[in-house]
Amino acid sequence: MAILEAKCLKKIYTTRFGGNRVQALSNVSFSVEEGEYVAIMGESGSGKTTLLNILAALDKPTSGQVLLGGKSVSALKEREMTAFRRNNLGFVFQDFNLLDTFSLQDNIFCLLY
Ligand SMILES: Nc1ncnc2c1ncn2[C@@H]1O[C@H](COP(=O)(O)OP(=O)(O)O)[C@@H](O)[C@H]1O
Ligand SMILES: [Mg+2]
Repeated sequence: MAILEAKCLKKIYTTRFGGNRVQALSNVSFSVEEGEYVAIMGESGSGKTTLLNILAALDKPTSGQVLLGGKSVSALKEREMTAFRRNNLGFVFQDFNLLDTFSLQDNIFCLLY
């Protein structure tokens, strides 16, 4: 069984008053089997970060679904998703997202809790 499935993911960013609309993802579907090693490639602005944020449930798709181990991410409660991220996901941000008022040690603890 696929451990990760993206089904018809679509993401449209809109400005606060709905003026500008950017379609970042248009019907993205794929699945990943256990043990597979997958790279997402594309030019700058093609939607890689948007896709990864949605796969990690840091952002929500405009439509479509992400299934982790057959379970829809949108059906998980925030608390369950937090536990899932802690136990199963590693995420290296392009910019490190460190909190500069925290020590290095506290930044690491932030990632763990
Ligand atoms: N928060 C946002 N608000 C509006 N548009 C965004 C936002 N984030 C990304 N975009 C736009 O969505 C498209 C995809 O961006 P992104 O996912 O960052 O691509 P990549 O990581 O492949 O460079 C780009 O056109 C980008 O300008
Ligand atoms: Mg990016």
